[in-house]
Amino acid sequence: MYKKKLEGEFIISSIIVDRLNVVLTFNVKPESDNFSESVSPFHNIHSQNSEKKTDTYAEWDTWETIHALRDALSARHNVTLVEANEDFIYKVKEAEPDIVFNVAEGLNGISREAQIPAILEMLGIPYTGSDPQTLSICLDKARTKEILSYYNIKNAKFFITDDVNLSDSRGLTFPLIVKPICEGSSKGIFSSSFVKNESELKSEVARVVNEYNQEALVEEFLSGKEFTVALIGNGAETEVLPIVEINFNEFPKDFTPIYSYEAKWIIDTKENPLDVFTCPAKIDKLLEEKIKKTALAAYKILRCKDWSRIDIRLDNDGEPNVIEINPLPGILPNPEENSCYPKAARSAGLDYSSMINKVLLVAAKRNNLL
Ligand SMILES: Nc1ncnc2c1ncn2[C@@H]1O[C@H](COP(=O)(O)OP(=O)(O)OP(=O)(O)O)[C@@H](O)[C@H]1O
Ligand SMILES: [Mg+2]
Repeated sequence: MYKKKLEGEFIISSIIVDRLNVVLTFNVKPESDNFSESVSPFHNIHSQNSEKKTDTYAEWDTWETIHALRDALSARHNVTLVEANEDFIYKVKEAEPDIVFNVAEGLNGISREAQIPAILEMLGIPYTGSDPQTLSICLDKARTKEILSYYNIKNAKFFITDDVNLSDSRGLTFPLIVKPICEGSSKGIFSSSFVKNESELKSEVARVVNEYNQEALVEEFLSGKEFTVALIGNGAETEVLPIVEINFNEFPKDFTPIYSYEAKWIIDTKENPLDVFTCPAKIDKLLEEKIKKTALAAYKILRCKDWSRIDIRLDNDGEPNVIEINPLPGILPNPEENSCYPKAARSAGLDYSSMINKVLLVAAKRNNLL
């Protein structure tokens, strides 16, 4: 298929690739420009439940991101957009893609990120990114931590609970952080999630259980620097991109040093961007190696495919601990929006389009399309 460069073929990383038929599948934020009820059968869910919280769709993409993805892919391939909703199975069959570029976050349940990949597995259609098992496990931060612990990958001590009258910290040492067990994009993680005593702990657990309708994950607070690590590729060819450091000293004085919902979406905005990230992180070689080794080990242990972003924080001893694994990393195209995966890719010399096409390429290779 990729012997010589003919019309309609393109070079990616010195491999000549035919134009593939690519379906791009996604969930679009309802508040995003151009969102209309006609694009999504999910609109019934939106309108029936007027009490949805402001962060309900925080994980979903804007049209700006979806169009940037479409433009990146269509420079080299034939691209069809198919929204990840109840019609997906019919629409994707109709489109007959060689491969699906999947950024769909889903809406309902712990399997929400796994649903589209599971449908594609059933249909025998290749897709980018991790499989349903990895997506479901990584969405459950406690299950992820249990698996990491089995392989001696450091992570904060924790317990999970749905007890809204929780009266003690079960042997963990304050300060603690309380998070919903299965959310991303800092949903449910506010400055108040950092708790210093039993009464704050009780009220945060109650907030998470009541507002997010799921168990709370209570973790010891990792007091050191924070990093996030983007990875791309598979097997021996997996690349660890330059490490991103989060500079909490850029946030207002007295701001709790966690990359919370307020930090991500309210204080650091496109209009008023903060210099929150340094990439590559300015750290010594030994620490850089330790962080990269930890990220790569976590990627392999969770059997991530094609790409992922892994959040890491140092403990009191300066050792890297894994906070969580994002097999569907955020990829906002505008550099001013401070999205970490594209930032790490840029630092490695990959612009947005090259980054997206590289993800497609490694997925195509993995699926023997090349
Ligand atoms: N155990 C911990 N110790 C210190 N800080 C923590 C801990 N757990 C979480 N945090 C802080 O809270 C932030 C959000 O936590 P986490 O990464 O689990 O949430 P998320 O919503 O899944 O994030 P993302 O936006 O990356 O999907 C982290 O970036 C970190 O700043
Ligand atoms: Mg995170």
